[in-house]
Amino acid sequence: MNPTLTTLLNHRSIRKFTAEKLTPTEVDTLVSAAQHAATSTFSQQYSIISVTDPQKLAVLGEITGHPWLEGAGHYFLMVADQYRNAQLTPKNATTTANLHSTDKLLAGIFDAAIATEAMVTAGESLGLGSTVMGSILNDTLRVISLFNLPELTFPVLGLAVGHPAEKPALKPRLPQELVHFDNDYQPITANDPILSGYNHLITTYYHERGSHQRDETFTHHIVTEMSRDPKQRAEILVALAQQGFTLNSPIQD
Ligand SMILES: Cc1cc2nc3c(=O)[nH]c(=O)nc-3n(C[C@H](O)[C@H](O)[C@H](O)COP(=O)(O)O)c2cc1C
Repeated sequence: MNPTLTTLLNHRSIRKFTAEKLTPTEVDTLVSAAQHAATSTFSQQYSIISVTDPQKLAVLGEITGHPWLEGAGHYFLMVADQYRNAQLTPKNATTTANLHSTDKLLAGIFDAAIATEAMVTAGESLGLGSTVMGSILNDTLRVISLFNLPELTFPVLGLAVGHPAEKPALKPRLPQELVHFDNDYQPITANDPILSGYNHLITTYYHERGSHQRDETFTHHIVTEMSRDPKQRAEILVALAQQGFTLNSPIQD
């Protein structure tokens, strides 16, 4: 064990914060940690928006269903960004195809997501807690318009950071046998005994944790997640098209 591993292995999302705001130095430190994360083709194809406007925070609270984010010590919006690259690139058929491609969309999303995790871990190393929020995509078009996101950008994640006012129990993860394989993919079946053991562990976790106790297994949780109405987020594809991402391979053109 070393301090880095201790931080990584003690991660838990924090959803209750004290009233203390992050200092400008803390904000700069988190952004630096994000910037030093690996970045696809060294293109640094993401932007970070600090959201301090209370009205915008309130809208994000509504969109995500997490009004508590308004009381966080700081809020970041992580944006996949090929717009900056477009400004640096002379326009021709090849550069246009690249900038609008699925490949570059994914690269921006990878960059934004990896940068987000760097901020989470950096924050935790400073005693801060955070919650990553994919729920900004509950109303992607509204987020795009709220932050004036130009063509070739896309909101990826929100990140609420602050001084923790709770210490939830660690959520047990899947046994490694189910996620880490040697050389070949190992398919799972729903009645796998290792999965059954994990389901028992998750049931105990949900019974014993401090809040929102309930009867739950991992299998049931996944069934619930997969049973949500897919139309709820169908707008994502509309938003991607609006932002200029074609989801086409140039070979198809
Ligand atoms: C991509 C992504 C999106 C997430 N979106 C949300 C969210 O919208 N709201 C939320 O409360 N937590 C969100 N989370 C946090 C997860 O719920 C959390 O990481 C997971 O339940 C495991 O719990 P832990 O982080 O406490 O270990 C998100 C996490 C990730 C990685």
